[in-house]
Amino acid sequence: MNPWAQRMDRVGFSATVKMAQQVREDRAAGIELFDFTVGEPHWNPPGPVVAAVKAGLDAGLTRYSDSKGMPALRKALAQDFKGRGIDTDDGSIIVTPGGKQAIYMTCQALMDPGDEAIVIPPCWVSYADIVKLAGGNPIEVNTNARDKYRPNETTLRKAITPRTKLIMTNNPSNPTGAVWEPEVVEMVARVAKEHDLWIVDDLVYEAFNYTGRPVPAVGALAPERTVTVGSFSKSHAMTGFRVGYVQAPQPLVPQLLKLQQQSVTCLPGFVQAGALAALEHARQFPVEMAAHYQSLTAVVRECLGDLDPGPLEGAFYAFVDIKGQDSVAFADRLYAEQRVAVVPGVAFGSAGQGYVRVSYAADEATLRAGLTRLAAAVQAWG
Ligand SMILES: Cc1ncc(COP(=O)(O)O)c(C=O)c1O
Repeated sequence: MNPWAQRMDRVGFSATVKMAQQVREDRAAGIELFDFTVGEPHWNPPGPVVAAVKAGLDAGLTRYSDSKGMPALRKALAQDFKGRGIDTDDGSIIVTPGGKQAIYMTCQALMDPGDEAIVIPPCWVSYADIVKLAGGNPIEVNTNARDKYRPNETTLRKAITPRTKLIMTNNPSNPTGAVWEPEVVEMVARVAKEHDLWIVDDLVYEAFNYTGRPVPAVGALAPERTVTVGSFSKSHAMTGFRVGYVQAPQPLVPQLLKLQQQSVTCLPGFVQAGALAALEHARQFPVEMAAHYQSLTAVVRECLGDLDPGPLEGAFYAFVDIKGQDSVAFADRLYAEQRVAVVPGVAFGSAGQGYVRVSYAADEATLRAGLTRLAAAVQAWG
């Protein structure tokens, strides 16, 4: 038997998807547990979204649709981009099956084998593997709690080589909960311009920003080299609908479209009808959900006591300092002995050693009970 492609051996399973699956199986077996692994809101999607999907099915939106995405949806998205300071049009946007596929397609379109992509850990588990699947090499520019997970310009510049093709940015950040200041984004954009690099700006947590200042979009500063990725998954609690989108400088759009046409073809029309309804009839939904999660940051601080929960500036993740303990061993033991499920920090890069990620997108009683156990465990096992 011929072996499979060598690049498959360079990538692993998604640590968070794997963990969430374990929790699902244990729960189905009747085991009571506290689950803080999930990267999704615990709210249900907005009523108008569900109604629009049902109406879409009844109206026969059940056939192949426009490969780029429903025109009305792309127009509404283009309008939204203006609010981010990105002047674009519906022709520069492709609706994708989730933001993940948008990032996957972007790396496939931009990277040749051996090219390098700068990632800024602790960062989302999938960036490095998506880069590897494109034949590229992820280069880590680590950040730390002391700097509130802002990248350092000197370290960033040192990481750039003739093979560097792109930089991945993510505000608000999964897993750290950081939201960079405009100066930090300006610095990254400036460095990218100087070295003629692309930037893939992942804004899927944009709705969850507790800093009081707008989430800085790189595309507003360097539109000619920035690919902006968004999603309905988190903003509208629509993770299972699989709707994201990508906005790119015009020359790149046909390349992304080839990938869409030769892989997924298009998104279901009835699902896109739901996404359109989210923009037209559920504008307040993300605002209310974000206010709720922001209020939970106080619960996180209270329950963790003197443990550092990370910046808590956005998204719905605490990146908790477990006082020098090994993150995998700690997470395993916490699950085995306390039935509290968290993600080990090293899943997000070696810079995450000594930390665990807690998703506080959970009901308050569960959060209080689980975090109290976690805090006690750090003290007892440290
Ligand atoms: C940072 C980040 N980017 C992108 C995604 C992709 O989300 P989706 O494919 O559901 O839009 C996720 C999902 O967890 C994420 O955490």
